[in-house]
Amino acid sequence: MMVILRPYYLTISLLILTSPNSSSYVNKMRQPFSIFFTILLLAVTLPPPCAVVSAGSGQWQLLQKSIGIVAMHMQLLHTDTILIFDRTDFGLSNLSLPGGRCRHDPNERVVKTDCTAHSVEYDVASNTFRPLFLQTNIWCSSASVAVDGTLVQTGGFNDGDRVVRTFFPCATCDWKEIPGGLAVRRWYATNHKLPDGRQIIVGGRRQFNYEFYPKSYATAKNAYSLPFLVQTTDLFEENNLYPFVFLNVDGTLFIFANNKAILLDYTKNTVVKTFPNIPGNDPRCYPSTGSAVLIPLRSKTPDFSFTEAEVLICGGAPRGAYTQAKRKRTFIGALTTCARIKITDPNPTWVVETMPGGKGRLMGDMLLLPNGNVLIINGAGSGSAGWEYGRDPVLAPLVYYPDNNPGSRFEILNASNTPRMYHSTAILVRDGRVLVAGSNPHVGYNFSHVIFPTELSIEAFSPPYLEAAFQNVRPRIVGPVSGTRVAYGQTVKVRVDVASGSLVRSLVRVTVLAPPFNTHSFSMNQRMLVLEPSNVTNVDGPTTFEFEVTTPGSPVLAPPGFYLLFVVHQEIPSEGIWIQIL
Ligand SMILES: *[C@@H]1O[C@H](CO)[C@@H](O)[C@H](O)[C@H]1NC(C)=O
Ligand SMILES: *[C@@H]1O[C@H](CO)[C@@H](O)[C@H](O)[C@H]1NC(C)=O
Ligand SMILES: *[C@@H]1O[C@H](CO)[C@@H](O)[C@H](O)[C@H]1NC(C)=O
Ligand SMILES: *[C@@H]1O[C@H](CO)[C@@H](O)[C@H](O)[C@H]1NC(C)=O
Repeated sequence: MMVILRPYYLTISLLILTSPNSSSYVNKMRQPFSIFFTILLLAVTLPPPCAVVSAGSGQWQLLQKSIGIVAMHMQLLHTDTILIFDRTDFGLSNLSLPGGRCRHDPNERVVKTDCTAHSVEYDVASNTFRPLFLQTNIWCSSASVAVDGTLVQTGGFNDGDRVVRTFFPCATCDWKEIPGGLAVRRWYATNHKLPDGRQIIVGGRRQFNYEFYPKSYATAKNAYSLPFLVQTTDLFEENNLYPFVFLNVDGTLFIFANNKAILLDYTKNTVVKTFPNIPGNDPRCYPSTGSAVLIPLRSKTPDFSFTEAEVLICGGAPRGAYTQAKRKRTFIGALTTCARIKITDPNPTWVVETMPGGKGRLMGDMLLLPNGNVLIINGAGSGSAGWEYGRDPVLAPLVYYPDNNPGSRFEILNASNTPRMYHSTAILVRDGRVLVAGSNPHVGYNFSHVIFPTELSIEAFSPPYLEAAFQNVRPRIVGPVSGTRVAYGQTVKVRVDVASGSLVRSLVRVTVLAPPFNTHSFSMNQRMLVLEPSNVTNVDGPTTFEFEVTTPGSPVLAPPGFYLLFVVHQEIPSEGIWIQIL
């Protein structure tokens, strides 16, 4: 019953909110098995299960009209700052470098002396940003955060295509560059952190192989051939760039490119499973850019082993969309479907669902929210990724409830006013908001005489769970403190305050999220584990509760490093705290 109803509770809550004592009603409403709920349910005529809430919820707020650069790539760091970067080779940005510094680069095409920044560090709490200095071109690259919280970025274009760059956050820190850090040039590759803390870098334009970083291991010097990337390259469109890569619970890598997927044992360079093609056979990767998530991992057994994993892929553009847009200025409607597959099944099959709203979406970003639901945000309704090829912005985000029954998994949320097209990004921050930035389908910064002007703003989207009506049930973590280091399989005591003093023990969960690196509509390393608390007890007065939770048992489930830990109560998440799993 609960799973079917979840998309509707917000609608019902909104009705109830207009009456007095609304918050107590909301609390009652959110206890799915209460008699109150059942009676009201019978009284209210609900839409059929496939319908969606039409009047959206969720709030948009403009944070900065301009951060001076296009947010083509974004990563949240454990300091609650966001590392943002664009590219260096298409002219001046709108942000000067401080201290009269300039970059002199004879290889540059547009300006050989450039005194503007192409990267910033944005501070979430103060809503401020500072320019950073890049030496080489970081365009359309990839990255992962290392175990100690350093962002390790790989590749780019031209003088930057084999460079590795690192950024460790501190008040005055800046980029460090490692020339020749990669075995081969990487442009449009996908990175994933591995259980031993290294990262694997998969593909990139005309690179049908993968490699590892750092190179301090004997086996890490080379690039390893991956014929799957040859098999998935379309002649004129490629459609296999920025492949969707996820670490499976058995340690293999799930790799999706174009319309195909495999499991790769990267330790033996062996494909251990080939999945059926995605139904419809349309491509989902760049430039037919869809997006993908690993659905939050849950333990189905009392011993906290995680044995199942599912992948969800949404949107994209039909085969030929890029060519049609480029050669004929014809902008084909984007794909309306999502396809979901249990990658741990012996005989897995794709299950197809249709996104609501009557139109498709390409270049959407799929983000895991703290309560385990999936947000689909940004993107276009027709055309293709690439210069000037997207049309028909899709302004309303969707939320996908993975645990609901098929047919009642989507809800349409409140729309933004700002198109977020090619080269836009979105990331979740610790307080539960989603920051959205970027959009630049032009070769340079262009603010006039174009359909979608270069967008330098940052907006915050506050999903419905942040509404004030839920303050009473929202947990507030009062212990442990942020920055806590935990081991694998360690039992941790967590203490929360719940303002209402009434905690529905069966509806408390803990989620841990690896904050992803987002670019080109894919969030690399995005990974969430759902942990079940035990021994929930009331301590220190009526509104404080303590419980135990056991951290993931192995680095295969959660590669070492920083995670955000949230406590979720009746679907309403707390603010996160940072933990470091080592
Ligand atoms: C939708 O967004 C607009 C603009 O931010 C806001 O005025 C309105 O209240 C929002 N609607 C809901 C239902 O939250
Ligand atoms: C960026 O700078 C250009 C040139 O100075 C100016 O025309 C434009 O309005 C600026 N854009 C933003 C968003 O600040
Ligand atoms: C912006 O794009 C328009 C249309 O393509 C073009 O005419 C104009 O020169 C461009 N402006 C800049 C600053 O590149
Ligand atoms: C927590 O509960 C488990 C099983 O219910 C029990 O074995 C364990 O001793 C409890 N821990 C504490 C600290 O009470």
